[in-house]
Amino acid sequence: MLSLSVNGQAYPVDVPDDMPLLWVLRDVIGLTGTKFGCGIAQCGACTVHLDGQAVRSCVLPVGSIGNRAITTIEAVGNTPSGQKIQQAWLDVDVVQCGYCQSGQIMSAAALLQRTPNPNDADIDAAMSGNICRCGTYVRIRAAIKQAATGKQEILQTLVSAPEGAKS
Ligand code: FES
Ligand code: FES
Repeated sequence: MLSLSVNGQAYPVDVPDDMPLLWVLRDVIGLTGTKFGCGIAQCGACTVHLDGQAVRSCVLPVGSIGNRAITTIEAVGNTPSGQKIQQAWLDVDVVQCGYCQSGQIMSAAALLQRTPNPNDADIDAAMSGNICRCGTYVRIRAAIKQAATGKQEILQTLVSAPEGAKS
């Protein structure tokens, strides 16, 4: 029996040590906000935080976690960086189909936590492993900058851009 700390709560789980954390979160604990995409650490849909660091839960054996704190999309809004990122996501209207977005938000929140005012290179490095089939990358970048600076100008620039340039 393992005990996992998820979103500030202890969860005893009776699962094999090599079961990926994603499976435990979704199918055992019932937190389905974290998504399955590729299952091979290539898309970022399954991103969660381990002691504040973004990790791919689809390839993380649950037995390797120990007492490190797991945070998922369900609770990232309780952290200062997560709260800012989620508000900016709403303000910039980032989401299209939504499937990739919990992973995007988790990667962005981890970035903002360690780099409060990221430049384009910081954003590229942090977000390049998160794939969006709807192509929301421009708005993701704008939302991260807005969360960091609190300035709205980037959004206004996007809104006044031609329709095809918005996403
Ligand atoms: S599902 Fe984990 S990276 Fe794609
Ligand atoms: S919003 Fe649809 S895959 Fe990213």
